[in-house]
Amino acid sequence: SDEELEARISAAKSGLGDRVVILGHFYQRDEVVRHADFVGDSFQLAQAAASRPEAEAIVFCGVHFMAETADLLSGPEQAVLLPNLAAGCSMADMADIDSVEECWEQLEAVFRGRETAGAAPVIPVTYMNSSAALKAFCGRHGGIVCTSSNAAAVLAWAFERGQRVLFFPDQHLGRNTAKAMGIPLEAMPMWNPRLPLGGNTEEQLRHSRVLLWNGFCSVHKRFTTDQITAARQQFPGVRVIVHPECPMPVVDAADESGSTDYIRKAIEAAEPGSTFAVGTEINMVRRLAAAHPEHTIFCLDPVICPCSTMYRIHPGYLAWVLEGLVRGEQHNRITVPDDVAAPARTALERMLAVRP
Ligand code: 13P
Ligand code: SF4
Repeated sequence: SDEELEARISAAKSGLGDRVVILGHFYQRDEVVRHADFVGDSFQLAQAAASRPEAEAIVFCGVHFMAETADLLSGPEQAVLLPNLAAGCSMADMADIDSVEECWEQLEAVFRGRETAGAAPVIPVTYMNSSAALKAFCGRHGGIVCTSSNAAAVLAWAFERGQRVLFFPDQHLGRNTAKAMGIPLEAMPMWNPRLPLGGNTEEQLRHSRVLLWNGFCSVHKRFTTDQITAARQQFPGVRVIVHPECPMPVVDAADESGSTDYIRKAIEAAEPGSTFAVGTEINMVRRLAAAHPEHTIFCLDPVICPCSTMYRIHPGYLAWVLEGLVRGEQHNRITVPDDVAAPARTALERMLAVRP
C-alpha cells in the first residue's frame, strides 16, 4: 500500500543517513518529492549533485539525462542511481548522436574556409535535455550546454565565439530565446535530420544565426493560445506563466516564461489573492496550488498533462533502490563512460562558468 511504501522509504533513508542524498525534479509526484533532500529545476539539480561529495550515493528522482549529468558532476567514487531506467525524455531522444554528427559534417562542408578571425562558423549548443554523448559532442567542438534558466546567457556566450549557433534538441527553447534576443525568425531555419542540408539551401544556412533542431517536448507542445484566451476570459487579470519549451505563439501570448524554478519563485513572490494560469507539467502545478492556498493556481491545459517518463519514478522503485543501498547493493547505477565523460564535462563546466 501507499503507507507501506512511505514507511519503507523513510526507514531505509534514515538508516542510510548522510550516506545518501535524494534529488527530485519539480515534475516528480508528491509521494516521491516528499523524500527528496533537494527539489529543483534541472540547473539546480546539477549544482546539487556537485555539492555533496561526502555522500556515497545520489538517488536521482528525475529522468535519464539528469542522472547522467549528476554522474558527470559528482565525485568519481559516488554512485548515481536512477530508480527506474525507463525514465527517459522523449525530447532528448529526438537528437541522436549519429544524426548530429551527420548534420555537423554537412555544415562543415557548407562553411569550409569561412572562419573569420576569432569567430567559428558554427557553435553547437545543447539543451540539458540531451544525452551525455551530445554534451560530449559540444565539448569537443567548442560548444556548451544550456538549461531553460540560462539559455539567453549561454547563447550570448556562443555569439561571442561564433557566427551562428546549432541548437538542439528543443526548437522551441531555441526559437523563444533567440527571438527575445532580437534575432529575426528568418535567421532561424530548422534542421530536419531526415533531409539533405536539413531541408535548407546553402544560402539559407549562410544567412542563419541559429539553426534549430527539429525536436520538441510532447508535454509542453500541448499548450495553446486558445487556452490562454479562455483563461483570460474566465479570470480577467490572470497572470499566465509558461515554460519556454512551449511553442512560440504560446510564449508570446503569455505574460512571462521561465524555468520551473522561475515559475515557482514568481508565484511565491506574488501578492496574496493572485490568479495564475501555468503552462507546465501537472504535478508541479498541483503542488504549487496546494502550497499556495492564498492564490488561485491552475494548469492552462484542462486535460491532465503529466510527463509520463518523470512519472515512471514510482515510490516502489525508490524504496527498492534505497533498500538495496542499505544492503550494500547499487541498483540502476548510471555511469557515463570516460571517453564521453571528459568532453561532456567540458561543455557542462563552460555552462557553469556563464553568469546568467
Ligand atoms: P527545467 O530546467 O525548467 O527544470 O526543465 C526541465 C524539463 O525537462 C522541462 O520539461
Ligand atoms: Fe522531457 Fe518534456 Fe518530460 Fe521535460 S516534460 S522531461 S522535456 S518529456
